Order: sequence, then C-alpha cells, then structure tokens
Amino acid sequence: MEITPAAQELNAIIKSGNSYLIEMLSKTGRRLYFPKGILSQSAEARTKAYDKFNATIGIATENLHTMCLPSVMGNLNDIRPSDSLTYAPSFGIPTLRREWKDMMYKKNASLKDRSISLPVVTCGITHGVSVFADMFLDPDDVAIFPDKMWGNNYMVMSVRGDTHIRNYPMFANGGFNLEGFEKTVRNEAENNYKVVVFLNFPNNPTGYTINEKEADKIVEILTRVAEEGTNIIAVTDDAYFGLRYEEAPIKESLFARLCNSHKRLLAVKLDGATKEIFVWGLRVGFITYGTVVETDYALVYEALEKKTAGNIRGTVSNVSHASQTIVLKTLRSPNLAEEQKLKVEILKKRALLIKKIAADPKYADAWEMYPFNSGYFMCLKLKTVDAEKARQYLLNDYKIGLISIGKTDLRVAFSSVDEENLEDLFEHIYKGIKELE
Ligand SMILES: Cc1ncc(COP(=O)(O)O)c(C=O)c1O
Repeated sequence: MEITPAAQELNAIIKSGNSYLIEMLSKTGRRLYFPKGILSQSAEARTKAYDKFNATIGIATENLHTMCLPSVMGNLNDIRPSDSLTYAPSFGIPTLRREWKDMMYKKNASLKDRSISLPVVTCGITHGVSVFADMFLDPDDVAIFPDKMWGNNYMVMSVRGDTHIRNYPMFANGGFNLEGFEKTVRNEAENNYKVVVFLNFPNNPTGYTINEKEADKIVEILTRVAEEGTNIIAVTDDAYFGLRYEEAPIKESLFARLCNSHKRLLAVKLDGATKEIFVWGLRVGFITYGTVVETDYALVYEALEKKTAGNIRGTVSNVSHASQTIVLKTLRSPNLAEEQKLKVEILKKRALLIKKIAADPKYADAWEMYPFNSGYFMCLKLKTVDAEKARQYLLNDYKIGLISIGKTDLRVAFSSVDEENLEDLFEHIYKGIKELE
C-alpha cells in the first residue's frame, strides 16, 4: 500500500523536527497514521450532536445509557484475585474456550458432527483479524471484501501488513451480488495460488445478512473454486452474530457450512463477546479453525492453535484474565439467553420501525436504503447531495450525528438511538438534505 496523505502529513512533521527520525521508522512505521474516518466523525458528534440523535456510536445504548446485561454487571464485583490478577494462558482460559465452542455448536446447526478447533482467545475481534493476518497473509497477498466493509480492515491488513484489498459491489437487484462475488473470486483465483475471502454478516456498515439461498450459493462457489485447484481461506467476521430481526437472514454463521466442505478450503471464524453479550470494552474475541483433516484432526487443530497462541504470546502475550473471567461467568448465567433476547428485541423494534419510516415514499427523492435485516446499522444512499457535506450540515444545524462513507452513503447506528427518537431523526435528515440541495 502506498503512503496515504494522512501518513505523509505525520511524516512531514516528524521529518521537519528531526530528519533522522523518519529514517529510523520501519516501512510500516512510515505508513502508519491515525485513521480519521469513523473515529473522528464520532468524536465530532460527541461534542456537537444531541445525545438522542448521536447515531455514530458503534456500541448499543438504551435510554441514553450503555446497554448492558444484568448477568454481566452482577459478575463485576465478584472475582477472585486468582481469576483476574494472575496471567491467563496465551491460548485463553481453557474452560472459556470449551464453553464458547459448546455454544457455537448450539447456535450453528450445520456444525453437528463436524470437527473444528478449540477457539483461541484474542483481544477483541480486531486482534483476531490481526492474528489471522500474521498467520496467513504474506506481503502482496489479496483479501476480497465487498465494497461495503468495516474500514479498520485496511489498517490491520494493508497499512500494518502489505495486503491488497479487492472489492466487489456488495448488492445487486436488492440482494447480495453473487455474480460480482463469483467473478472477483475467480479472477483472483486465476492470478494467485490462494484466495482470501472475508464474509461479514450482519454487515458493517449496511446491516445486511444473506438469506439461505445466497448462503448456499456462496458455499457452492467457494467449494467449486477449491475443487478446481485454488486454496481458499474463508474468514467469517461474525462480530454481530445473533442480531437478526427478520426471518430471511440465515440463523447460523457461514463458518458452519464452510468448515468441512473441501480439503483446499480453510474456514476461519472470528467472533467475540464484544457485541454478543454487550461488553465492547472487555476485549474478548475468539479465532477458530475448521477444515477437512485426513489424519488425527485433534492433533492438526492443536498445531494450528499452538501457532495462534505463539503469535499472541509474541504480541500482547495474553488477553485480560479479568475480562475472560467475566465473560465465562456470564456464559454460565442461567439468565443469559433471556437477557440477550430482551436486548435483541429492543434493537429489532428499532430496525423494523426504521424500515417503515425510511422507506416512506415522501423521502424517495432524497435517498434509497441499502437492504438491511440485522446488526447495529443501516445505510442510506443519498441521491442528491454529497454524503460528507450532508453529515456536516446535519451535525451543525440539526445536531444529528451520522457517519459518511464515500460520496453517497450515510451510516445510521440505530444501536444508539432510542425508538421514540427515530421518526424525528429521519424527518430532520430529510429536511437537512432538502435545505442543502
Ligand atoms: C465488522 C466488524 N468486525 C470487527 C469489529 C471489531 O470488534 P472488536 O471490538 O471485538 O475488536 C467490529 C467493530 O466495530 C466490526 O464492526
């Protein structure tokens, strides 16, 4: 990846103060910058937007407070020093790894009778992406994403690593763009000995999850390309797993369907407690492997787990023991499922209401909605004004906080806007856009 203008700016400042410093930085060091995009737009919204209209936040809130499960909070004061202050293993706490795996089997029907590794604990899903990149991506390798993607993947893989990210248009005819997906995978398969594909459903930023048909077709495409002789690594980023608001989206992770489809296909599951149990700051994620193994699968998975833990040992060493203990105790709470259901219900009500409001024909001249049915976000595609101009105008004149992505898209985090404010929110967005026109 070339050095971005943001990195160039930092390099120029460093160079002007001490020209030797810039020579001392590594290639990665020279490429690094602090991303502006979502983080700076959120920071701006925190100072300018009304709290009730701050739809930039990547966590969930309820009545303007952080959403939380009583099972999590009840565990915060009840942790022994030996379960929190001591080091956790680089692999993660064994019982947590086993129980997370058990939960995966319960929530992913297709995993039945399939063998997968034990999950290794990462410092949130972000670190899971980074561990994956260290283990599987060489400089100049390609990773395939849809054009609607979580921007931090660039930082982890292209800025810190040397990965080329290839995009395909995510949507066609109101659904997932299978044709574009297949074309891009095949194109890369022709040019590379291995192809890395990221699959993120529910998707950030659109809130879309594929349906059964689309899921089957994705599995079919990847399996066929593997059969034809290309090594495929399919990474499912399941950050928003379980936040499903309609019948159409698939109930399980694509990982479950990909993990023993072909010997040349490795499925990697990145998931975490972050959003599944509403504990963003605890930083507990997992990386899990599944593929076809011809010898003793336990031994092979153990070898992959050891390599993964070696990477963790050599970077963050191990993940917070206190955080892992809180997550483990929460998984064991008899009330967890019911508490999760209640919170998902709150988010679902917001999502369904937005679908009604934003699709009102009175707004049709200003935007169209990208398909969404799950997760934290929905995205508007603006028809008449530039998205960043609209964002700034709405923030300054209406105190509404949104995230602009590219020229046309505005991301609305309904995870952080209460149901009673949604109607006003979209009415104001529309008014603002009209004034700007
Ligand atoms: C698609 C996606 N993947 C990964 C992450 C990172 O999750 P974590 O906070 O566990 O690092 C996010 C968070 O915003 C996300 O939206």
